[in-house]
Amino acid sequence: MIGAGSRQILITGANAGIGLALAKKLSGRHRLLLSGRKPHDEIADLLPQGAGYILADQSDPEGSAQALVGGIDGIGWDRLDNAVLNAGTGFAAVDGIDSTDAIRQTLDINLGAAIAQAQALYPLLEKSGGTLTFIGSVAHKGSAMVPAYAASKAGLHGLARALRSEWGRRVPVQVLHPGPTKTDMHDKAGYDPGRMRALFLASDDVAAMMAAAIASRRSSGTISWARYLVGGAFTGRRL
Ligand SMILES: NC(=O)c1ccc[n+]([C@@H]2O[C@H](COP(=O)([O-])OP(=O)(O)OC[C@H]3O[C@@H](n4cnc5c(N)ncnc54)[C@H](OP(=O)(O)O)[C@@H]3O)[C@@H](O)[C@H]2O)c1
Repeated sequence: MIGAGSRQILITGANAGIGLALAKKLSGRHRLLLSGRKPHDEIADLLPQGAGYILADQSDPEGSAQALVGGIDGIGWDRLDNAVLNAGTGFAAVDGIDSTDAIRQTLDINLGAAIAQAQALYPLLEKSGGTLTFIGSVAHKGSAMVPAYAASKAGLHGLARALRSEWGRRVPVQVLHPGPTKTDMHDKAGYDPGRMRALFLASDDVAAMMAAAIASRRSSGTISWARYLVGGAFTGRRL
């Protein structure tokens, strides 16, 4: 059995950064199933107690969707109340030129996997009227240095709007766009934000604002300083 609690929640990319902060925030109140590309024994100590874990590498979009559905079935869940498709990656591009490999990986991991997973998870979400949340980025409007990343997040925004109108109340769909956040993502991407990093939000605060936005089921929203300064990390609906 996966922990105890009221809602059955899946979070992808939950062994690090924002996803892990969200999992820690929700653990104890809800039953959690987390996923990532690292084997369980490498990250088990990081995960909240009682959370289940599925190995799902999103560089194979279809394979990752099948792994999620198989893992959910394997622990005996027949529904999901929330799916938070958070896993993502990026690569710093020199002069705005991404390598072919970086383009393919970024689009597969950030967008292709999200499309395949959303479609595969639909029946499980529909059973409980569960909410599907995509984690985009403020970069979806365009951002220097990360063109393929920005394109993948813009794609997620369009995907969320399309599914929201298609699935209606059966499965509410939303896309949340965090601003710069203190995680290891920038190091992994080969990008050094320098002194700007001091201005990045803490992942715990972003996770708190994200949880409230998920509970609200609103179609989209930005998770950034503007929201934080009006108390967004401490107010809002509780998931
Ligand atoms: N940090 C920011 O400033 C920021 C701003 C806007 C939006 N976001 C978005 O927020 C989400 C979380 O990012 P983060 O900052 O928390 O980054 P992070 O700390 O690097 O966490 C990203 C998660 O995604 C996983 N992941 C990466 N590639 C994967 C793959 N091929 N298959 C499965 N999982 C994979 C990572 O696993 P590994 O640990 O194995 O790498 C990790 O668990 C991402 O979608 C990101 O684009 C972040």
